[in-house]
Amino acid sequence: MLQLKNISVRFGGLTALDNVTFAVGTHDVVGLVGPNGAGKTTLFNAISGLVSPSSGEITFDGVDVIRSPLYQRARMGIGRTFQVPQPMHELSVMQNLIVAQRFGTGKVDQNKIDEILEFTSLTAKSERNAATELALTELKALEVAKALATNPKLLLLDEVFAGLETTGKRHFMTMLKDLHRKFSVGIVIIEHDIETISNLCQRVAVLNFGELIAEGTPDEVFSNPAVIKSYTGGAHA
Ligand SMILES: Nc1ncnc2c1ncn2[C@@H]1O[C@H](COP(=O)(O)OP(=O)(O)OP(=O)(O)O)[C@@H](O)[C@H]1O
Ligand SMILES: [Mg+2]
Repeated sequence: MLQLKNISVRFGGLTALDNVTFAVGTHDVVGLVGPNGAGKTTLFNAISGLVSPSSGEITFDGVDVIRSPLYQRARMGIGRTFQVPQPMHELSVMQNLIVAQRFGTGKVDQNKIDEILEFTSLTAKSERNAATELALTELKALEVAKALATNPKLLLLDEVFAGLETTGKRHFMTMLKDLHRKFSVGIVIIEHDIETISNLCQRVAVLNFGELIAEGTPDEVFSNPAVIKSYTGGAHA
C-alpha cells in the first residue's frame, strides 16, 4: 500500500531523515520507534504531505504522491493523528469530526460519524467544546476519531498513548486492536513504550538520527544490540 524509497528530509543543515526505505502493507500494524529527535514525526509528516522530502520516492497504492498536497493524500486514504492533539477551537467534538470527514472524503456521512463517536467512546461528549471541555484521554480519542473520519486505508498514529494512565492505556490498546479489525486499516504507530509496541505490532522499524537502523519482529528488534545502543546512547541532547 505505502512505499517509501530513499527518502531524505533536510531542515537547513539538519538531516532529519536520511535515505529511509520503508513499506507498509494493507493489513500491517507496524511500530515506529527511536529516541527523541530521531525523525519519527518527520516521517509521518513526509508521508502525509506536511513536509517535502529533498530526495526519494513515495507511492501510495502504486501512485506517486510525492508532490500531492495534504488533502489529496487524505482522500487517497492516508490518515494521521498529531503528537500534540490539535482539535479545532470553537468547535464541538461532533463538528471537529464533520470537518475532518469533509477534508478526507469531500462529503458528510452522519451515520459514519455516529459510528466513530460510539467506537471511540465519545458519543456522550459530542456536543462538548473540543478544545476546552475534554480530558486528556478524550482528546487523544478525538485525535483518533478525527483520523478515522477521513476514512483512511492507512492510519498514522503519533504517540497516542503518551500521558495516559494505565487504565486509559489499556482501553486505548483494546480500541486500536478493534479498530484494525473493524475498519480494516493498516496502522503505523509511533510509541516509546516497548511493551505497548510488542503487544500491538507484528513488525517494528527503528529510526536513529534519521536513519532506519533496524526492522523486524518486536523480539528481533528489541534484542538487537544496535537498537539497544541507540536507546541508551543515541539520543539527541
Ligand atoms: N519543521 C522543522 N524545522 C526544523 N527542524 C525540524 C522540524 N521538524 C523537526 N525538526 C527537527 O528534526 C529532527 C527530528 O524531529 P522529529 O520531530 O521528527 O523527531 P521525533 O523522532 O518525532 O522525536 P520525539 O520522540 O521527540 O517526538 C529533530 O532534530 C527536530 O528538531
Ligand atoms: Mg515525534
